[in-house]
Amino acid sequence: MASVLRDGAFEGETHLVTGAAQGIGHAVATMLAEHGAQVVLIDLDPARLEEARDSIAGVAPVTPIVCAANVTDEAQVQAAVATALEATGSINGVVNVAGITKDARIPKKSYEDFKAVMAVHLHGTFLFTREVAAQHWHPLFKSNGNQPLEDGVNRFILNFSSVSARNGNIGQVDYTAAKGAIESVTKTTAREFSSYRARVNAIAPGPVNTPMLASVGEAGIAAMGRATLTGRIAEPEQMAAVICALADPMISGFITGEIVQVNGGMYLD
Ligand SMILES: NC(=O)c1ccc[n+]([C@@H]2O[C@H](COP(=O)([O-])OP(=O)(O)OC[C@H]3O[C@@H](n4cnc5c(N)ncnc54)[C@H](O)[C@@H]3O)[C@@H](O)[C@H]2O)c1
Repeated sequence: MASVLRDGAFEGETHLVTGAAQGIGHAVATMLAEHGAQVVLIDLDPARLEEARDSIAGVAPVTPIVCAANVTDEAQVQAAVATALEATGSINGVVNVAGITKDARIPKKSYEDFKAVMAVHLHGTFLFTREVAAQHWHPLFKSNGNQPLEDGVNRFILNFSSVSARNGNIGQVDYTAAKGAIESVTKTTAREFSSYRARVNAIAPGPVNTPMLASVGEAGIAAMGRATLTGRIAEPEQMAAVICALADPMISGFITGEIVQVNGGMYLD
């Protein structure tokens, strides 16, 4: 992968990435690691995580730490954040990427599927955000006499919305609801985490070439490409590059509470 920032931009930093075993999460973790971050890869399956770790270790200066956890399981999220803290001593940022889809139109949408999709996207994002604050950033704030952390340390939360949060998408009442909620969560978190001097932003991708999109089929993917102004769907590395820019305080130090549209002009706000 090409370097998009200056060399070592994230040297000495620890970044947690959920959904890191494949797709956009894997590309994000790879690019953050290539810029020197100690990444902690979080996903469901230990074997897939080990594969991801080995592939990233082959191109990055720091070998990732792996941590199998279900982002919807409160105890597992607490344990994942505790493990990352024990291993590295501090956490600079979290990228909440993990996601699922269970598409069906509303009359045929099971309540179980609706809840499962909400849980991975919305509850998972909340749980990781809360845990990093509860276990790490808030104690720092308290030991600073409840004063804002002006220590110059880079801190961020980066969430994943979708173009369909604003545009709607047939079959995705759960997914679009979760993504819309994540946009609101991003704004509230930005306000609250200002005390930690943590920047909190989200990106809202258009269609991206990952296993999540494979179920749409070739014709569907081609149609999605035509619906953009670029004529094609995006590659995961294009999302990773935007995430790197948002994680970098030299580029994005004055950006917080923002939802960055990365949709190839598929939807114009
Ligand atoms: N691919 C797209 O076109 C597209 C468009 C807009 C937004 N997004 C968003 O980008 C993010 C990544 O999507 P992707 O296309 O890379 O998906 P993907 O299906 O390729 O990868 C998602 C990863 O999340 C993991 N995951 C799922 N449930 C989990 C759980 N409960 N706990 C831990 N890990 C879990 C999966 O195992 C998988 O490795 C998602 O939030 C998705 O909604 C994707």
